[in-house]
Amino acid sequence: MILVTGGAGFIGANFVLDWLSVGDESVLNVDKLTYAGNLSTLKSLQGNEKHTFAQVDICDRAALDKLFAEYRPRAVVHFAAESHVDRSIDGPADFVQTNVVGTFTLLEAARAYWTTLPEAEKAVFRFLAVSTDEVFGSLGPQDPQFSETTPYAPNSPYSATKAASDHLVRAYHHTYGLPTLTTNCSNNYGPYHFPEKLIPLMITNALAGKSLPIYGDGQNVRDWLYVTDHCSAIRRVLESGKPGEVYNVGGWNEKTNLDVVHTLCDLLDDLKPKADGSYRDQMTFIKDRPGHDRRYAIDARKLERELGWKPAETFETGLRKTVQWYLDNQPWVDDVTSGEYRKWVGQHYA
Ligand code: NAD
Ligand code: TYD
Repeated sequence: MILVTGGAGFIGANFVLDWLSVGDESVLNVDKLTYAGNLSTLKSLQGNEKHTFAQVDICDRAALDKLFAEYRPRAVVHFAAESHVDRSIDGPADFVQTNVVGTFTLLEAARAYWTTLPEAEKAVFRFLAVSTDEVFGSLGPQDPQFSETTPYAPNSPYSATKAASDHLVRAYHHTYGLPTLTTNCSNNYGPYHFPEKLIPLMITNALAGKSLPIYGDGQNVRDWLYVTDHCSAIRRVLESGKPGEVYNVGGWNEKTNLDVVHTLCDLLDDLKPKADGSYRDQMTFIKDRPGHDRRYAIDARKLERELGWKPAETFETGLRKTVQWYLDNQPWVDDVTSGEYRKWVGQHYA
């Protein structure tokens, strides 16, 4: 079986659902269930004996040791993190704790377990760390995309803690020989995305008749990847990636935030027209995010060249699917936008 951390969050849950739908290997899903972790996302797995859920903090070494000893995974796929840049600006402590101390604790537990394995199992064991393009910093309009050798230059507490996490993973391969793999992916979107991030926030606010808050001039660029394409890339790297290597994952979809919000409004106008006017009427420009990175863009050619991976969705097909999913899954949105979420939104956008 494989051990997945953060498998109740957006990408982790998509990965677990995807994994169990394409193969028959079991998953041990380790998640603390913070505000971003939602068991309702995993509802379809109830009664599925190939899925075991353990509510455990990755900073809890004793609990991790117990899980490794009991379930004896052949690989770890590590998603668990604090992941929202705006929250990292308001309160960085949780980010240092989970993204740095948590990754360190997980690496230590994995190393201790891996050391005890027979040689053949040791050789095939993998520790795959899921990271972000944000560790590379911000690009100018004419700069080439981030490659695997772009120097790290993180700008937010979120990206700084993810960078620290990546450095620890690298060191555990270099120093102890732990067979690690690292993937650095661009912005994801798709089903089960917590509505604090740009795309789901805009969809849910639009449908609720609320304003669509665009930071600064709306010209910041992100490189969007449909979440199931990210999942297939991780499966590919886990299967055939070379230990110690880093792989960039991206969809070649650079868009300004303004483009994204316009496209979302047009899709909603088409799929769920308002009685009066367009969803674009709800757009509003607000104060910029402090230290807001201007542009991210990923060069994913290494993954294509070496492991033959390519995204299946275009931005247009992926975004239409996403909007339709939110229209069809309002109860999920109601379920996850709890009191804690409402408190955050109230404070942040005040
Ligand atoms: P998310 O915030 O939706 O989910 C994170 C999950 O981790 C939640 O289920 C949460 O309960 C769990 N978690 C948090 N702290 C934990 C702890 N101490 N112990 C155990 N579980 C804990 O995040 P996401 O968007 O699914 O991102 C998953 C990973 O992918 C993260 O490492 C993130 O940095 C990376 N990533 C995300 C994106 C993106 O666009 N969302 C892009 C590239 C990389
Ligand atoms: P986000 O989804 O938070 O991802 P990240 O900051 O990790 O890239 O934000 C994506 C872009 O959208 C980013 O440039 C900030 C911008 N944004 C807004 O303009 N308004 C919002 O309310 C949010 C949440 C983000």
